[in-house]
Amino acid sequence: MAYVTLYGKIDMLSVLFLVWTSSLSVVEACPSQCACADTTVNCTNLQLLTLPANIPTDTAVLDLSYNNISALPPDAFATLLSLTVLDLQHNNVSTVNETAFYRANVFTLSGLHTVDLSYNVLTSVPAVLQDGSLPGLLNINLQHNKITNILANAFFGVINNGLLSLDLSNNLIEEVHLEAFRGTAPVINGTLDMSFNRIRTFPVLSTLNSVITVNLEGNQITEVPEHALPNYEAFPFSVSYVYLQNNSIRLVHNNSFHPDMKVLYLHNNELRDFPGFELWRLTELENLTLNDNPWGCCDDLLEFVLYLQNNTHRLAFVNDTGFPGVECMDPLDLRGTDILSMNISHLAEDALCPISTAVTFGCDPVMAVVCIILAILKVTEK
Ligand SMILES: *[C@@H]1O[C@H](CO)[C@@H](O)[C@H](O)[C@H]1NC(C)=O
Ligand SMILES: *[C@@H]1O[C@H](CO)[C@@H](O)[C@H](O)[C@H]1NC(C)=O
Ligand SMILES: *[C@@H]1O[C@H](CO)[C@@H](O)[C@H](O)[C@H]1NC(C)=O
Ligand SMILES: *[C@@H]1O[C@H](CO)[C@@H](O)[C@H](O)[C@H]1NC(C)=O
Ligand SMILES: *[C@@H]1O[C@H](CO)[C@@H](O)[C@H](O)[C@H]1NC(C)=O
Ligand SMILES: *[C@@H]1O[C@H](CO)[C@@H](O)[C@H](O)[C@H]1NC(C)=O
Ligand SMILES: *[C@@H]1O[C@H](CO)[C@@H](O)[C@H](O)[C@H]1NC(C)=O
Ligand SMILES: *[C@@H]1O[C@H](CO)[C@@H](O)[C@H](O)[C@H]1NC(C)=O
Ligand SMILES: *[C@@H]1O[C@H](CO)[C@@H](O)[C@H](O)[C@H]1NC(C)=O
Ligand SMILES: *[C@@H]1O[C@H](CO)[C@@H](O)[C@H](O)[C@H]1NC(C)=O
Ligand SMILES: *[C@@H]1O[C@H](CO)[C@@H](O)[C@H](O)[C@H]1NC(C)=O
Repeated sequence: MAYVTLYGKIDMLSVLFLVWTSSLSVVEACPSQCACADTTVNCTNLQLLTLPANIPTDTAVLDLSYNNISALPPDAFATLLSLTVLDLQHNNVSTVNETAFYRANVFTLSGLHTVDLSYNVLTSVPAVLQDGSLPGLLNINLQHNKITNILANAFFGVINNGLLSLDLSNNLIEEVHLEAFRGTAPVINGTLDMSFNRIRTFPVLSTLNSVITVNLEGNQITEVPEHALPNYEAFPFSVSYVYLQNNSIRLVHNNSFHPDMKVLYLHNNELRDFPGFELWRLTELENLTLNDNPWGCCDDLLEFVLYLQNNTHRLAFVNDTGFPGVECMDPLDLRGTDILSMNISHLAEDALCPISTAVTFGCDPVMAVVCIILAILKVTEK
């Protein structure tokens, strides 16, 4: 008898519990431990390993930052139709299921404008940015992950509506596919940040219609190609700020930069020469940094030197390495000469800048002998 009573009691309790929990979810309870106010659900810093249950369906701002959440499973956010901000920074996210944001191909999270997945362990750009299911996204933060490459069409679903910021800085990116920034009308109406990665080839940005700031600081880029920046000259207000400092740039091609740009940082690279007249085109330039490059002060640098001497008001100095100044590295007898104040008739004959010549031929130390021969050939040509 007692047995039956005990079971009866347990059944009653669990029935009551079920009624209680289901009534809670009807009145949109707050997930346990989280703090809820209005439509903001704050679950920051709770050592969560998985997404909390019972997130109210009218949640607009969901703060899950500083936890140890590692996966965003199918349908994870599919019922949160009012979501505008999703903050998952400082977690352990390695996978975002491609259906985390929608159910049965119904794309309804159109109000979601900010997704912060910075400081996680993603190794690739989540596919959900490609498929068009998040058409309202304006801000995507993927900095400090472990992304190694950017595939074709990686942002196809979000780039057509005018992103304001796409932050891919501090990843392990080596390869950016030629069509990574492809879209039907791709626009980053703000900042594209790919600084502090391992990019060697200047990414193809010319398919973008617009981008105001491009930050490629701290990569391993060696060349700035012709028309490197978006839809060259078609969009007057685009590409105003370009950060290329701390790369390995040796060569800047003609017509690389947008004529209306305002800030160009090229300090701490490997530039020996520069297409001087390229700079004369940049009439709106306010701040230009060129310090910490091994300038070869030979006669082919004349146009460049003239530009600098006539545009000192545009020069800015960023003392990254402790050697500010635009100075000659070669030839030896001009080493340390300040280009801004040097007498242009002292620029050396080409022959006195053999290292510059070698670099022009794209030589490395292993090829030194061939380079010297090529250099001699070039000199005797003149
Ligand atoms: C969540 O709470 C933390 C402090 O408890 C606060 O710093 C953070 O701004 C809150 N997040 C939101 C979205 O209000
Ligand atoms: C995540 O887990 C690690 C290891 O258990 C722990 O040291 C760390 O404090 C946790 N971080 C958060 C934000 O909970
Ligand atoms: C992070 O996620 C991985 C699985 O992807 C898991 O093995 C690891 O324990 C997690 N780390 C923490 C601190 O939770
Ligand atoms: C996403 O979830 C579905 C259903 O569980 C699964 O079939 C698929 O493999 C998952 N995708 C990823 C990338 O994990
Ligand atoms: C880009 O920004 C400009 C100026 O803020 C605005 O007029 C334009 O509509 C924006 N374009 C898109 C596609 O968001
Ligand atoms: C240049 O970038 C590398 C990483 O690519 C970084 O380790 C180094 O500190 C940076 N140097 C400066 C002067 O910013
Ligand atoms: C850049 O243009 C100048 C002048 O038109 C020309 O002499 C030079 O060869 C060009 N350089 C490159 C790399 O195309
Ligand atoms: C150029 O640098 C000066 C001095 O640091 C600063 O005041 C100005 O705002 C900069 N110009 C632009 C367009 O950023
Ligand atoms: C540079 O300025 C000097 C005077 O300071 C002038 O004589 C010279 O023509 C200018 N050069 C150019 C290319 O504008
Ligand atoms: C540049 O920085 C170095 C140390 O990083 C410092 O010793 C030097 O005085 C600075 N130079 C200028 C002109 O600011
Ligand atoms: C520049 O150097 C030449 C040749 O050494 C000299 O004739 C000329 O006076 C110098 N110009 C200035 C401004 O010092």
